[in-house]
Amino acid sequence: MTTQPPAPIRIAPSILSADFADLGGAVRAAEAAGADLIHVDVMDGHFVPNISIGPAVVAAVKRHTEVPLDVHLMIQEPGRYVERFAAAGADYLTVHAESTHHLHRLLQQVRESGVKVGLAVNPLTPLVVLEGALPLLDLALVMTVDPGFGGQEFIAGSVARIEAVRRMRDRMNPNCLIEVDGGINARTAPLAAGAGADVLVAGSAVFGGGVSVQENVATLRAAVAG
Ligand code: DX5
Ligand code: ZN
Repeated sequence: MTTQPPAPIRIAPSILSADFADLGGAVRAAEAAGADLIHVDVMDGHFVPNISIGPAVVAAVKRHTEVPLDVHLMIQEPGRYVERFAAAGADYLTVHAESTHHLHRLLQQVRESGVKVGLAVNPLTPLVVLEGALPLLDLALVMTVDPGFGGQEFIAGSVARIEAVRRMRDRMNPNCLIEVDGGINARTAPLAAGAGADVLVAGSAVFGGGVSVQENVATLRAAVAG
């Protein structure tokens, strides 16, 4: 029997920390740096305190990159917008477990819209919701900050949660990706990857720091390779 080598970690730069006046340039730089996904944070001012972007911007970004768009909906009642984000070019559409009362119906709606299905949980949301949903998912997003803003501190208890989701995933749906989002940098990326994450979202660690996107992505990869 041959053992599969571990899959390389995937990096998903979050354009929330990019220059909103030059998102085309930001996604081209991320693509050139070897980004595996482009993470797009959609915020409505209700589910989270901040407001960011909508389907028109997703469609505009789509025209500048071949890299799959990983759209993270931090909006109340996301079922009102699923089809619009799918039509705008989302490849993955991730909804929050806390955003609706009828989660099973919502996940089915996302599936029927023809995109990959993601489910996110906030840092203190019981993981049992993910356990129930795992067979329906392509991506499980473990938030490592309360969502709403870039540049927050990685919540330390997140490591045990990622490990728990990894065990569930390996048992119930090995094809589902585990993504982590919030406070990922060269210090925390190895913690998240070591706990079993497949995809690291990083905003300020990719678009900040006064160095190039290329250099920042390389730093994250080197930190994980350790
Ligand atoms: C936070 C968003 C994140 C954010 C991460 O609510 O969901 O995707 O862009 O930013 P950093 O990596 O700076 O914590
Ligand atoms: Zn996000």
